[in-house]
Amino acid sequence: MNVFATADDLRHQVTSWTQSNSKIAFVPTMGNLHAGHLSLVRAARQYCDKVIVSIFVNPLQFGADEDLAGYPRTPEADRVLLEAEDVDVLFLPGKKEIYPGEPDQQILIEVPVLDNILEGKNRPGHFRGVATVVRRLFDLVHPDVAIFGKKDYQQLLVIRRMVTELGLQVRIEGLETVRETDGLAMSSRNQYLSPDERLLAPAIYQTLKESATLLADGAETVAQVTGRGREMLEKKGFTVDYLAVCRQNDLAPLVTPIEPDEKALVILIAARLGTTRLLDNLELNLA
Ligand code: PAF
Repeated sequence: MNVFATADDLRHQVTSWTQSNSKIAFVPTMGNLHAGHLSLVRAARQYCDKVIVSIFVNPLQFGADEDLAGYPRTPEADRVLLEAEDVDVLFLPGKKEIYPGEPDQQILIEVPVLDNILEGKNRPGHFRGVATVVRRLFDLVHPDVAIFGKKDYQQLLVIRRMVTELGLQVRIEGLETVRETDGLAMSSRNQYLSPDERLLAPAIYQTLKESATLLADGAETVAQVTGRGREMLEKKGFTVDYLAVCRQNDLAPLVTPIEPDEKALVILIAARLGTTRLLDNLELNLA
């Protein structure tokens, strides 16, 4: 595995691959890799002959009240994991490689509406930061395919919309969330849970599944289902930021009764346990 820290070194490699008609699959990450990331890397290998993984903790997607400095950084362990997955290139850029201009003159990518609901409403500026860095990474990596996890469902939609509207020549693949055996979605944030909180955390996935069953039964309104789910989580000690039932393609919230043409739904939850904020979602097709 080659490890490149500069945009020039990466470009050099990418140009030579492109000239020899190799296809490139790309997995952008912020490091602190776990089995969820590795499933994306393995999928990348199925799509293309060359696999590039980036690790860059993107300051632009952290809010002023979010702990950028405290974000877990484990570059050595990450490198060992990626070597074992036979990754071709690990791109480990410093901040200036990604944002070479003046910080107060940074060109930004806005994705209206989607960036201002659910996760975007709770984390103003977050998706602008994500879209901006992913666009920049795409410019450097020139991937044929880029792989993202469905765990960050709204992020996946933001990126799909950016790619469509800017006409970027990259195929976006969204992969299923990888879970612990008790259902908890894998996330770098899980390590912050205390042992007691860790035991409670799978309740998020339980709530998603129960809500999906109730919606599929059709006996209760969306508001009843989300109210019940919220109550269940709050009883266990969660603070629920949102529990929403939305259309899969644009995250428009569902109104009751469910319209006949609105069958492809997704239930999304963001909830805090102590100081740890957990996200999860479940797709539901009411065919
Ligand atoms: O999902 C992440 O880890 C990040 O948001 C991403 C896509 C690597 C952009 O910084």
